[in-house]
Order: sequence, then C-alpha cells, then structure tokens
Amino acid sequence: MMAFPIDFLWGGATAANQCEGAYDIDERGLATVDVLPYGEDRFPIALGVKKMLKCDDQHKYPAHVGIDMYHHYKEDIKLFAELGLKCFRFSIAWTRILPNGDDEIPCEAGLAFYDNLVDECLKYGIEPMITINHFDVPIALVKKYGGWKDRRMIDAFMKLCTILFDRFKGKVKYWLTFNEINMLLHLPFMGAGIVFDEGEKKEQVTYTAAHYELLASAKAVKLAHEVMPDAMIGCMLAAGQFYPYTCNPEDVQKGLDADRDNYFFTDVQTRGAYPVWAIKRMEKEGIKLDITSEDIETLKQGTVDFIGFSYYSSRTVSVDPEVNKQTTSGNVIFSAVKNPYLKTSEWGWQIDPKGLRITCNILYDRYQKPLFVVENGLGAKDAVEEDGAIHDLYRIDYMREHIKAMDAVINEDGLPLLGCTFWGIIDLPSASTGEMEKRYGVIYVDQDTQGNGTLKRMKKDSFDWYKKVISSNGMEL
Ligand code: BG6
Repeated sequence: MMAFPIDFLWGGATAANQCEGAYDIDERGLATVDVLPYGEDRFPIALGVKKMLKCDDQHKYPAHVGIDMYHHYKEDIKLFAELGLKCFRFSIAWTRILPNGDDEIPCEAGLAFYDNLVDECLKYGIEPMITINHFDVPIALVKKYGGWKDRRMIDAFMKLCTILFDRFKGKVKYWLTFNEINMLLHLPFMGAGIVFDEGEKKEQVTYTAAHYELLASAKAVKLAHEVMPDAMIGCMLAAGQFYPYTCNPEDVQKGLDADRDNYFFTDVQTRGAYPVWAIKRMEKEGIKLDITSEDIETLKQGTVDFIGFSYYSSRTVSVDPEVNKQTTSGNVIFSAVKNPYLKTSEWGWQIDPKGLRITCNILYDRYQKPLFVVENGLGAKDAVEEDGAIHDLYRIDYMREHIKAMDAVINEDGLPLLGCTFWGIIDLPSASTGEMEKRYGVIYVDQDTQGNGTLKRMKKDSFDWYKKVISSNGMEL
C-alpha cells in the first residue's frame, strides 16, 4: 500500500428517501419513491408497468420512517465526525422544498432542514456533497406531465436547482445532478416517474425522457458554474464494466454493446454531444428524439467536472442461451449472467474488487476527467450479539479489497481519484427491495422492515476499522 493523496475524500453516502423518514411532515409532498412498497409489487411499480401513484393500507413502506434521520441528523453527523469522515454525500428530497415539484414559493421548513444538515457537517469539517435528485420525482409532476416523459420537467427541475445553488453557494462545493441516471432505462418509474401507457413504445418513451434529463443535467451544470465558480459538479452513473463471458467475438461484441448502452448518458454528460453509435442505433430502432438546435448547444455548454459513479459489481454477458440461464438474483436489473470466478453476496450481487480498478481505468480512458466513487459497499445481514457488538468482518473484507483496488488506481495507474463515499454508511432501507435487513452501514440502526425497533444507533466492528483506515489515510487496512 502507498499513501492516498492527502486530500482524498474518505466518505459515506445516503439518500433522502432512504434515510430521512418524516415523509409527510412539514408540507412535504409525495414522491415516486414514497409509493414503492416492500414486497412483490415493488418491482413492477419501479419498472413503470404497474401504476401506483399513492400509498395504501395493504402495503408496507419501510422508507416512510427510514432511519428517521430527519430527527436524528445531529446525532448521526456527530458519529460521522467521530468516524473521521471527510465527506458526507446526501440527497435533497425535491418535495420537501417544492411539495408539488414546481411551486412558486419554496417550503422554508424543508430548506431549513438542509441548512442545518449542511451547517452540522461544516461544523465538524466534513465536506458536504449534494445529490440534487436521487430517484425522487414529485407525484404531482407525474400526474401533471407523466414525469420525465415531458420537456416541461426541465423547468421544474431548474427551479429546484436555482433555489439550492442560491441557498448553498459558498458552503457546498461538490454536487451531483441525477443519481444513477442510467437507471432510467432499467427502472423507469423509480428513475424518472414513467408509467407506460397501453401501446406506448418503451424505447421511444425512455430515450425521450433520457434526452430531457440530459438537458436538465447540462443546464444545472451551467447554472452551477455561473452561481458557484468554485463548485465541482458531476454526473452519477451506475457503473460496472461488462465482461464478455468468452473470447468468442460474438460475446465480445455483446459486451461492447452493453457497455455503450451503459455509457450512453455519461458520454453525453462529459462530451456534450450524442455519440455516433447512439445516433445510428436510434435511427435503426426508429427512435426519434425531440431535439432542437438549442438543445445541441445546451448539451455542449453543460459538461461535467468529474465522473461520479457507483460501483458494486462488474457484469458478464454471453450470446450462448445455455450460459444465459446461469444468473444470480443480483443479475436481474442489468440482465447479466453469473461470472464463475466471482463470489456473490447474500443478495446475489457478485463481488469483484478488481472490477473496480478495471472500471476506473475504462472510465478515465474514455473521458479523462477526475473520478469519484460515490457509492460502493456490501449489503449483508448483521447479527447483534448479546453484548451489543456487531462483528461484520465480511464487510471489512469487502471494503478492504475495494480500497486496495482504489490504491492501485491511484498509485499504480496514476489516475485522479478524488474520493470514495461508501454507500449506506449508516444502515438504511434498500432501494431495490425496500427492506431493512440488507444493511450496508458501519453504523447499525435498530429498525426492521416491519417498522419495529428503537432507532438506536450502534457501532459495528467496521466502524472502528474504517476509522483507522481514515486516520492512517489508507495505510492501515
Ligand atoms: C444504488 C442506489 O443503486 O445502490 C442506492 O443509488 C441503493 O439508492 C444502492 O440503495 C444499493 O442498492 P440496494 O438495492 O441494495 O439498496
């Protein structure tokens, strides 16, 4: 191991809709993420194939309480400070500021909450990083416009950005526009508030929405640069290199195509224009974008300062129908096959620290912009011993191996890696399943999927371990 850069941002990450709770207080409006229940209906709703624009009594919604960070933020940030975090990534709940998504007057209580959160971080010397939009589309805008199907979403989003930049200029340096923007293609309701109408051509709808989100992202970047000249504003991609299952050229071509689909958004966000292959593919598939000459200029002017990305796993693809039968439960969203060289987590997510190094190198070769791992971590079941200890050695192993990969990225490959905010640094409900049992934190929260628990915060063994890693700047692993 060699030393990490002195200003490396060792961090932790959360999202408003997963940790804040308090989903209906202080005028907060309902958002897409609030109507995603725990259980079998979650996936079809997130996909946009089952319409659900309100909550009901038949379902459970663990995220409505989350870990109630809304009321516990002081205690939580104090713990982050004890851990030694240099950076805390969190998101803004759009409907806490604008309950209907495009209200004339912002909700002061909502803004005050984020003021306090930011000030509390700064009090301890923790750099706040804001994700402007983490999977939450105001339900009022889904009803009014059909979510990101409609160009008018851009103005509503810019209203939110204008308020935020104005409020936090001089305080918040690091920003991300849309969390895992490419998730729009995989979970259209969760990512973009899209519910498909009967007979609608899915690809046409999703790529149209993608164009509007890309325009919104570019406009936000441009505005951020005008209002906050020192700010760093990045994109956020659900990354993970696609591997061909064999050296059969057909597998290699399939891997390349899957990669390109995945990099579709970041290609535009970093280069300011649609890549040639995407234009060709859209032509071939009969997808027509509502794109004006002004749009082309907007995309050019709004390129990002850094590449923020989540990395949990690589993905493997094959053209062989037999191989395609071999999947794990974690291969669903990105339709990948089981890689026989990798172990899997309890939720079927394949564990590939080397893949993080590969992904970083491919991203840098492609874009030559600073990189930031804004999510990484292991979702696992934790057991609380009688004495209150939580021995999560599996999580320590996972984090250690991924930190070693980052060390190689910096010290062997020489790439500019700005930091790493580990996901769910404090336990919170899962985005894909909605449950509380899939825990990522180094801080345990006493809360289960059924809503039982005291919400008490407890340190896991990984807390002390990560604290040592940070204080030794990555030398003690
Ligand atoms: C990312 C999301 O996809 O992965 C987070 O940005 C999410 O919101 C995280 O929680 C882990 O996924 P999951 O489904 O295990 O919570």
